[in-house]
Amino acid sequence: MAFQTYSLLVLSVFMISFGHVENRSNLLQLQNDIDKLKADFNSSHSDVADGGPIFTDKLSSWTERNEKRIILSQIISMYLKMLEKTDKSKAHVRNISEELHTLKESLSDGSQKIEDLKNLTKLEMSDLKVQRKAVNELFSVLQKLRDTSSSPKRKRSQFQRLCKC
Ligand SMILES: *[C@@H]1O[C@H](CO)[C@@H](O)[C@H](O)[C@H]1NC(C)=O
Ligand SMILES: *[C@@H]1O[C@H](CO)[C@@H](O)[C@H](O)[C@H]1NC(C)=O
Ligand SMILES: *[C@@H]1O[C@H](CO)[C@@H](O)[C@H](O)[C@H]1NC(C)=O
Repeated sequence: MAFQTYSLLVLSVFMISFGHVENRSNLLQLQNDIDKLKADFNSSHSDVADGGPIFTDKLSSWTERNEKRIILSQIISMYLKMLEKTDKSKAHVRNISEELHTLKESLSDGSQKIEDLKNLTKLEMSDLKVQRKAVNELFSVLQKLRDTSSSPKRKRSQFQRLCKC
């Protein structure tokens, strides 16, 4: 329960920070709807603060716009999953779900990247054919470091020194 209750507190922050909610009256409407959802989920119970936030503290280390779109797309999916089991006869639940669905669609590039990551974890690295492909691609993979080179103060890997990236 604590997961669900706390997560509601940060919902409005995502929607607002992503600029999906354009004007003030929509924003007030959304806050109003979320307040009703908080009541449904008992989000004012004292255990809500136990253990700290579940989403907001993680978001702070995702700073680039494209990075944020990845993690937000995942978090929005989690909200939608949570709301699937909620009473859809309530107008505020429908309103919030609709808003989240729209938001999720607008983050489709983020969802795609999550799928890429999930697919990567499924790769069978013990498979000899996969290994051949992997070794064949190794240099190209390392070359990608050029695009993502870190701060010059940090210790550079041998590859980074070789390729002056
Ligand atoms: C909210 O709290 C009430 C009373 O404490 C309880 O009956 C109800 O099941 C709770 N609802 C949820 C979703 O936890
Ligand atoms: C749901 O959204 C519509 C349009 O934004 C609004 O008119 C209506 O009052 C909202 N319903 C609830 C229960 O918040
Ligand atoms: C993930 O892997 C499946 C099966 O290999 C493939 O059909 C699908 O297109 C892949 N998805 C992405 C996003 O690459």
